[in-house]
Amino acid sequence: MKEENQPGNYQLKADLEGNYLIDKDHKATKRLGIFYAPSGGSVHKVARLIKQKLVDLQPDLFVISDVTPLRLLDYHNLILVCSTLGRNTWEMEQKDPWSSFLPKMLRIRLEGRKVAIVGLGDHVSYPNNFVDGMGILGQTIGEIGGQLIGETETRDYIFNDSRALQEGKFIGLPLDEDYEADKTEDRVDNWLERIRPELKK
Ligand SMILES: Cc1cc2nc3c(=O)[nH]c(=O)nc-3n(C[C@H](O)[C@H](O)[C@H](O)COP(=O)(O)O)c2cc1C
Repeated sequence: MKEENQPGNYQLKADLEGNYLIDKDHKATKRLGIFYAPSGGSVHKVARLIKQKLVDLQPDLFVISDVTPLRLLDYHNLILVCSTLGRNTWEMEQKDPWSSFLPKMLRIRLEGRKVAIVGLGDHVSYPNNFVDGMGILGQTIGEIGGQLIGETETRDYIFNDSRALQEGKFIGLPLDEDYEADKTEDRVDNWLERIRPELKK
């Protein structure tokens, strides 16, 4: 049985209809949590790569289908890794576990927490919706009071449009494992170098 499925505080804090009974004083006690979905593909691979590169910070790694959003509250700093699986999937609660996780996230508050997002996409097949999922996730983080860190300049990317843009920059780190996999490691290294000081706090 997976650790996350065992009975514990998290399950006890949901009522019979699945609404979370939020502990407003829930204090972050751990430094860094990496949360990702879906499992088994490129997102999973990148999430493991990031964990490996931050091993000195001893991050915890979770696939979101194993946790409730309450688990996010344990961490001062969060790295969220997502992909975009079609323009409508996030809204229509298909395929991508983030689409059903997002509405539940609206029941927590992330004030005082720093959040860095990594978004996987495909700039060749989806140039008009490049890493849109990162933008949708970022919007939710903003709504629940999280502080986004780790924006990225667009100059290294070829695309037409993206929901992940804010004031001309990506709100997090875009990666394209389909067509630019050879760039992933350098992009991750450069990004982590920039945000590492924030993640240490
Ligand atoms: C059905 C489908 C729809 C996709 N839609 C988009 C999209 O709108 N924008 C984008 O940038 N990438 C899109 N992609 C590319 C994925 O985000 C990319 O392949 C990603 O690396 C998949 O990660 P995963 O293997 O962990 O699922 C789509 C992929 C599929 C299969």
